[in-house]
Amino acid sequence: MKVNFITPSFRLVSCELMALNVIFAIVTASLVIQVVVLFLLVYGYLLKRKLKFRQHGLTMAVAVFVHLTAVFTIMIPSFVRAVIPEYIVTRPFELASLVSLVHITFGTLAVSLGIWRVASWRFRKNFAGCFNKKKFMRTTMIIWLFALGFGITLYTIFNWAILMG
Ligand code: HEM
Repeated sequence: MKVNFITPSFRLVSCELMALNVIFAIVTASLVIQVVVLFLLVYGYLLKRKLKFRQHGLTMAVAVFVHLTAVFTIMIPSFVRAVIPEYIVTRPFELASLVSLVHITFGTLAVSLGIWRVASWRFRKNFAGCFNKKKFMRTTMIIWLFALGFGITLYTIFNWAILMG
């Protein structure tokens, strides 16, 4: 007689583990994208320092596009399905909830300001209008760096157990 070792509870546990792996892969993809955006911001800033203003504008536009893609494909779905119901609603004063709220606020502000700046420029040859927006761009960059910092902190909080083995 053939004995079936795969019990329903074993199947349930392996399904849960598979789901956890999928979630880990998704949030790790989000982390990788945030690190890429961070590199683009630093690279864009260095281009400005070398007075390559057009390349600076183009690099910042790519950073906005890459960040927006991550926001719509990964961050919003994961916030709506997991973070809001499991943390913000049920445990609002826990570190993960607070960090996620700060991350959402800074992230939304940074991306909105980035879109605004790129849209005002509209890839025109003439970027003279950008020169008097120095303070605006500096503020956008600082807010953006905070958003990325809190995003990376959030990833570490959510995956602490996995990262620590
Ligand atoms: C989208 C997000 C953007 C961010 C985060 C950003 C960030 C910055 C930062 C941090 C500076 C240095 C400010 C300072 O020296 O204190 C700067 C300067 C500058 N940026 Fe951007 N920038 C962005 C988009 C653009 C765009 C689309 C253009 C258009 C070509 C542009 C053109 C310039 C110019 C011309 C300067 C020199 C300003 C001056 O020295 O008076 N930037 N940017």
